[in-house]
Amino acid sequence: MYDFHPSPGASKTQHYDELVAAADALTAGESDGVANMANVAALLSGWLHSLNWAGFYRRQGDVLVLGPFVGRPACIRIPIGQGVCGTAAAQAGTQIVPDVHAFPGHIACDGDTRSELVVPVMRGGEVIAVIDLDSPLPARFDDEDAGGVERLAALLSERI
Ligand code: SME
Repeated sequence: MYDFHPSPGASKTQHYDELVAAADALTAGESDGVANMANVAALLSGWLHSLNWAGFYRRQGDVLVLGPFVGRPACIRIPIGQGVCGTAAAQAGTQIVPDVHAFPGHIACDGDTRSELVVPVMRGGEVIAVIDLDSPLPARFDDEDAGGVERLAALLSERI
């Protein structure tokens, strides 16, 4: 049984330290990327507060294709360059979106979503996937969240 929990009262930095350590423990030695994405999506969903969607889109040529996630059923294919996820993939850069309604071309998969964080997963200089986190709270994500999820993305580079 896996039973990972954040330490109560941890600072935000420690909270992400522990998240990355738990993801490391969950995925170490497992070569199946789908299994690893599924477990990390479940981990994210429980570890971070106020999320309504947490998961992966995987790059397949010019599109991102839905991967393992926790949340409501979502858009399956997102062209590179479209929406928050497609923008993160096109720019190979993290997107922090405090108000999704103000993001041109935002793709609404869950009407409850108010803010979003998307972090690319890179391998050999290429975007291979993105990690997408949605929140029903406006401005849920800041630079520290982005940095923490970027560390997670780096860990997963060779594991998904
Ligand atoms: N909002 C995303 C689409 C994916 S869902 O949030 C799960 C976007 O604009 O790319």
